[in-house]
Amino acid sequence: MRILLTGSSGFIGGRLREALQAAGHEPICAGRRPDGSGCRFVAADFAGPPPRWSEHLDGVDAVVNTVGIFRETPGARFADLHVAGPVALFEACAAAGVRRVVQLSALGADDEAESGFHRSKHAADRRLLALPLDACVVMPSLVFGEGGASSAAFLTWASLPVLPLPAGGRQAIQPVHVDEVVAALVVLIEAPPGRWRGRRIALVGPEPTTLAAYLQGLRAGLGLAPARTVTVPAPLMAAVAAAGTGLLDRDAWRMLQRGNTADAQDLTTLIGGPPRPVAAFVPHELAPALRTKAEAGWTVPLLRLALATLWLVTAWVSLFVFPRDESLALLARSGVPEALRLPALFGAAGLDAVFGVATLWPGRHRRLWALQAALVLGYSAVIGVALPEFWAHPYGPLTKNLPILALLVLLWARDR
Ligand SMILES: NC(=O)c1ccc[n+]([C@@H]2O[C@H](COP(=O)([O-])OP(=O)(O)OC[C@H]3O[C@@H](n4cnc5c(N)ncnc54)[C@H](OP(=O)(O)O)[C@@H]3O)[C@@H](O)[C@H]2O)c1
Repeated sequence: MRILLTGSSGFIGGRLREALQAAGHEPICAGRRPDGSGCRFVAADFAGPPPRWSEHLDGVDAVVNTVGIFRETPGARFADLHVAGPVALFEACAAAGVRRVVQLSALGADDEAESGFHRSKHAADRRLLALPLDACVVMPSLVFGEGGASSAAFLTWASLPVLPLPAGGRQAIQPVHVDEVVAALVVLIEAPPGRWRGRRIALVGPEPTTLAAYLQGLRAGLGLAPARTVTVPAPLMAAVAAAGTGLLDRDAWRMLQRGNTADAQDLTTLIGGPPRPVAAFVPHELAPALRTKAEAGWTVPLLRLALATLWLVTAWVSLFVFPRDESLALLARSGVPEALRLPALFGAAGLDAVFGVATLWPGRHRRLWALQAALVLGYSAVIGVALPEFWAHPYGPLTKNLPILALLVLLWARDR
C-alpha cells in the first residue's frame, strides 16, 4: 500500500514508518523537513498554510496522522497543529477518496477533556469521524519505548535514589509499549474496509496501575531495587506545575490527576494477544545501558548545578564579601603589578560569573569545560608557586581543585 504518513520524524511516527517499510508498504513522509530515512518526502508544516494535499494524495491508499505537540510554544499552537492542519488533510482525503485514514489522538481526548492538548485532539477527531471516510481514531495512553522523550524522563525519574511522588503517586495510568502501538496501527491500516470505521480505539497496557507502581516497575526493569518514596503534596505540585517546567505543566498535572485508563480489549484484538505489562517494558539486554543513561539524566544536571554554584559564589564572594584589601594583597604577592590589581580582581570575578551562568546554559559545552579546566590549572599553578602556604592549608584550597578538574574532564567526555 502507498501510505502518506505525517510526523514520520517523531517517536511513534518514526517507528511506524520502519514497520510499514518492513511490511512491504510504501510510506510517503510528510513533514517540516525530510526525516533522514530516504522516504519520499512531502513538505508540510502544520503551523503554516496547508500544502495542496490533492497533489500528493493521488494513488495514496491510506493516510496516517501522527503529528502532535504536548505543550504549546509561540510558533506551535494546538489550534494549528492538532486541529487546522489535520482537518485540512482529512478534508482533502475525503475529496480525493482516500480509502483509509488513521488519526493518532490520545486517551482522554473526549467530551470531558479539560486540557488544551486533549480538547484540541478531540476537536480534530470529531471532525475526522464526521467526514465520509473509512476512518478511525487511535487513543494511546502514555507510550513507553526507547527514543520517546517522555519515556526517557520517566526512566530518569524512576532511577532517582528517592522517588518524589506527586500527591503520593496514586494516580491511575495504563502505559502501553510503543511496539504494540505501532503493531496496532499497521493492523488498522491493513484492515478490511469498514472493519474499524468510526471507532475510537484505546491503546493501553494490560491493566491500570498507579504512577508509583509504574515508576517502581521501570526501576525493577532497570535492575534497581525498590526505592523509598516521598510524597510531594498536591498544593506544592500545583505550584510547580504552574511554573511549567520539564515534564510537568498545568495541563500535564491536570491530566495526571484525572487518570488515564481504559479497556485493553481493542488492543488485544488488534495485536492478537494481551499487550505486555510494565515489567516487560525495559528489554533485559538493554537494562544496563538504559540505567546508565537514566542515572545520567539526574547526575549530570546535579554536577553542573554544583559547578555553576561554585563559580557564582566565588564571583559573589570576591566582589562583595571578602575584604578587598586582602584580595589586593594576595594579588600583590602573586606578582600582579599594582595598576593591574583592581582590573584583575574585577576581571577574574566577572569571568567566574560568566562561567557560572554558561554552566547552567542547556546544551553541550566541551569548549567551556576545557576553558574552565585551563583557568583552574592556571590559578592553581600561580597560587601554588606564589602562595605556597595554601598547599598546607587545612581546608585544602589547592587540592580541592583536583576533584573539580576530574569533574570537568567527566563533563567534557560526556559532551562528545
Ligand atoms: N508519546 C506518547 O506517550 C503519546 C501518548 C499519547 C498520544 N500521543 C500522540 O501521538 C502523536 C505522536 O507522539 P510522539 O510521541 O511520536 O511525538 P513526537 O516524537 O514529538 O513527534 C511529533 C511529530 O510531530 C511533528 N511536528 C511537530 N510540529 C509540526 C509541524 N508544525 N508541522 C508538521 N509536523 C510537525 C514532528 O516533526 P518535527 O521533527 O519537524 O518536529 C514529529 O514528527 C502525538 O500526536 C501525540 O500527542 C503520544
